[in-house]
Amino acid sequence: MATNRTFTMIKPDAVADQHIGDILAMIEHGGFRIVELQKVTLTPERAGEFYAVHKERPFYGDLVKYMSSGPIVAAILEKDNAVADFRTLIGATNPANAEEGTIRKKFAKSIEANAVHGSDSDENAQIEGAFFFKS
Ligand code: RTP
Ligand code: MG
Repeated sequence: MATNRTFTMIKPDAVADQHIGDILAMIEHGGFRIVELQKVTLTPERAGEFYAVHKERPFYGDLVKYMSSGPIVAAILEKDNAVADFRTLIGATNPANAEEGTIRKKFAKSIEANAVHGSDSDENAQIEGAFFFKS
């Protein structure tokens, strides 16, 4: 069953490039309500824990290094069908494959430095939101 919340992070490259405002504007214009919002720098340990699901993947070490390289912005978002609609708004993991008008098409630099995270299921949206926010 689709729930009405998802979780996102604006990743270190997009924060460093001063795209927080533009990305939050795209999120709000996409019909999402910002329920929680926090700018924070992850330690390598916290980043590793967040992405533990990818532990066996070849890119895991680089991903942990990248995600702890500078501040990120974490947020819980609300909208009908939030998880699927947000994945549509952010576009494909690899910006080379991202549709026009998506956040990654506009701001992602590479398959790794791809500007934003979006939860891939209702269950993970709940787990990931709770990783940052107690509510
Ligand atoms: P995310 O979890 O961040 O929303 O991204 P996603 O679902 O579109 O992609 P996923 O497969 O979950 O990968 C998580 C993040 O790992 C980095 N990645 N690097 N070098 C590579 O081949 C590679 N593949 C993935 C990206 O930052 C990706 O968003
Ligand atoms: Mg993912």
